[in-house]
Amino acid sequence: MNNLDDIRKIDEIDPSGMLKAEEEFYRQLTGSKEIIKNTDISRLSGNEFKGLAILGMGGSGFSGDIIKALTADEIKIPVAVVKGYDLPAFIGKGWLVMAVSYSGNTEETISAVKKAIDQGSEIIVKCSGGKLERLAQNFGYTLVKIPSGLQPRGAIGYLFYPAYLALKELGFIEIKAEDEEEAFKMIKDKSVTYNRNNPAEKNLAKKLAIDIGDRLPIIYGTEGIYTALAYRLKCEINENGKTPCWWHDFSELNHNETVGWERLSDITKKFVVITFRDPDETPKLKTRIEITLEQVREKVDSIIQIPVEGKSKLAKALSTLYLGDISSVYHAIFTGVDPTPVEKIEFLKKELAKLD
Ligand code: F6R
Repeated sequence: MNNLDDIRKIDEIDPSGMLKAEEEFYRQLTGSKEIIKNTDISRLSGNEFKGLAILGMGGSGFSGDIIKALTADEIKIPVAVVKGYDLPAFIGKGWLVMAVSYSGNTEETISAVKKAIDQGSEIIVKCSGGKLERLAQNFGYTLVKIPSGLQPRGAIGYLFYPAYLALKELGFIEIKAEDEEEAFKMIKDKSVTYNRNNPAEKNLAKKLAIDIGDRLPIIYGTEGIYTALAYRLKCEINENGKTPCWWHDFSELNHNETVGWERLSDITKKFVVITFRDPDETPKLKTRIEITLEQVREKVDSIIQIPVEGKSKLAKALSTLYLGDISSVYHAIFTGVDPTPVEKIEFLKKELAKLD
């Protein structure tokens, strides 16, 4: 028996319950609907915004990446994702700036939101507390308050979905009821299939974790939502598994990275390439992926192709996100690593705060 099918062992390696947070992803999504229902967004309603900027770092910043990718086909105003202290000069009066920080204390996000205030933007804050909550309260900005007590990356349902719903409420996008129903049903079903009680032979999330094992993953995204999801999976493997991991995306990687597999195969033989396969990918993309994987095959230990499920873009995004997130937690546990602590992130935040 591998340690992923040993419930006692899981509890021993994951004492803070990162796997439990993943198992409750469905509850985070349904809870998000309640959160938005109870949030007063009247200050923003009826405004014509020139653009939308989403600020945030790390796990919180991912909400910007996925929202930008999900809304790209329909949103009529520019969407900027800002990860850092500074704010581009084009974001100013008439823009809606959404500051997302789970803790509410991330200094880059606070710095950028203060610049947005100075540049005359309208603000919406999403956090579980901290300085950003106080800033929103002091200035009377719209505040979407999410539950505290989780690791930011384990709170992705709360970080992303209320923001997405808020955009619908404000008329930026439409979320079809059937798409949401499909997505929610898939996540509900997957939370049973990916649950710790379902053994590895029937559990794709555990299988993926075991297949990655002690190899260095290279995640290849395949445009749009899959670019955001590739980066997310890389970060999840870094933070949960404390494992190096790199990523890139089609078709840009065909203009540089593919050439770089020619040397150092004694090192790259310890790598595993992971990519997403959407049954609706265009013939051009299919050909790109297949030729690229053939070019790389001999250079790496193996290739994992993750089958994307779902009909709507939302269902595809949420189900692929869920598989990647929970697999990364299983991967940590499989390799004997406690997924929760991120000491290096905490240490640096504290050292930087001393400079204030
Ligand atoms: C930790 C994590 C980090 C944080 C990042 C920003 O679980 O995912 O990437 O999200 O350090 O912190 P917050 O989200 O509090 O703004």
